[in-house]
Amino acid sequence: MNAPMTQAASTRAIDTEWVRAQFPSLKVAVNGRPAAFLDAPAGTQVPQRVIDAFREYFETSNANTVGQFLTSRRTDEMIAGARAAMADFFNCTADEVFFGPNMTTLTFALARGIGRDLKPGDEIVVTTLDHDGNVAPWRALEDIGIVIRQADIHVEDCTLDMDDLRKKITWRTKLVAVGYASNAVGTINPVGEIVRLAHEAGALAFIDAVHYAPHGSIDVRALDCDFLACSLYKFFGPHMGCIYGRRELLLKFRPYKVRPAPAYLPDRWETGTQIHEGLAGVTAAVDYLADFGRHSDAAAARSRRAALTSAHGAIRSYEMELAKRMIAGLIAISGVRFFGISDPARFSERCPTVGIRVKNLTPLACAKFLGDRGIFTWDGNYYALNLTERLGVEETGGLLRIGLVHYNTAEEVDRLLAAMEELAASA
Ligand SMILES: Cc1ncc(COP(=O)(O)O)c(C=O)c1O
Repeated sequence: MNAPMTQAASTRAIDTEWVRAQFPSLKVAVNGRPAAFLDAPAGTQVPQRVIDAFREYFETSNANTVGQFLTSRRTDEMIAGARAAMADFFNCTADEVFFGPNMTTLTFALARGIGRDLKPGDEIVVTTLDHDGNVAPWRALEDIGIVIRQADIHVEDCTLDMDDLRKKITWRTKLVAVGYASNAVGTINPVGEIVRLAHEAGALAFIDAVHYAPHGSIDVRALDCDFLACSLYKFFGPHMGCIYGRRELLLKFRPYKVRPAPAYLPDRWETGTQIHEGLAGVTAAVDYLADFGRHSDAAAARSRRAALTSAHGAIRSYEMELAKRMIAGLIAISGVRFFGISDPARFSERCPTVGIRVKNLTPLACAKFLGDRGIFTWDGNYYALNLTERLGVEETGGLLRIGLVHYNTAEEVDRLLAAMEELAASA
């Protein structure tokens, strides 16, 4: 293993103490040692204010919407607040944001709605790199004659094969569905370029930003995408999904909905009663990030959007220094096979989520070994099934996934590396 770098040399200063103090669950211990939460790609921990938002909603505002009394009015205001928060997060208007229980459910609903305006023979392009939440909802449209084309990857570095993608986007393509970043191996896709290719062909662009959202700033206007999905529980919020849709498209396409439900935006895309307490938590999660931005950069205090952009800037540089330390350490361990981009010169193309295998061991055995030592990781395919099949690892248990976010520390990375050395030596 490479000699561990010092904290000062390895990480651009963020106030890790301030950050970690916001997250009560980081105090969880396993056999007397603090847990190292390296499982963020499956869901992050939440700051205290998200927990408080749930309690406060139930204590002061619990009601259904549009009623003529106090708690109902408070609920309406709270929902408007959640939309405004996500509008700042995405850089769009509040009526372009709709919520639901998770990204997958919302994407199935959106795909079914869009499918009503498609005809047999129309094509949709998906990719081998994506989570199935951005594949299966579009594949379901095969039932009505839509043709699905799947863009391949370069196996050697787990990046999208852009030449193949270009070939698959034709005048028949009506929509291109692509991930912003891979939840299995951390690749960040050139989504701006992909949106441009889709639009040149007259197709729409749907971006799955679930994995990217905790790691980088999202600007739907700059990207010019038509739809973008994410899940709050992946970036310090509650178990909720959220989609941005371009205003005119949300009005044009027809959701399946009950007749008395509103036909106006964005409510028309929200079926049934929403998870109100979760929506209260949405605002709290976005405000946490904005406060982190202000804490890291006083000049960011101007607006919530500016503060969020600062937060993501600080997060990105901190996380990537940690990732450098982790990846250098992992690839130096004999018996570790690394999937994805490992050259630090190309780290702008990745986020700090890595997929590995250890010789002679299943990912399940590795995750258990680490879990027993208080280091939380994941094994399997994490629903990125096209990818684990393409990499030839699906039948033998997928990959071991280790994911960092800004509440992780260099010390946790070093603990992981020490445990991995022990594990690989024993294999
Ligand atoms: C990249 C990606 N897309 C989609 C999903 C599905 O999100 P949800 O659990 O909100 O349906 C996940 C969940 O892990 C994911 O990582």
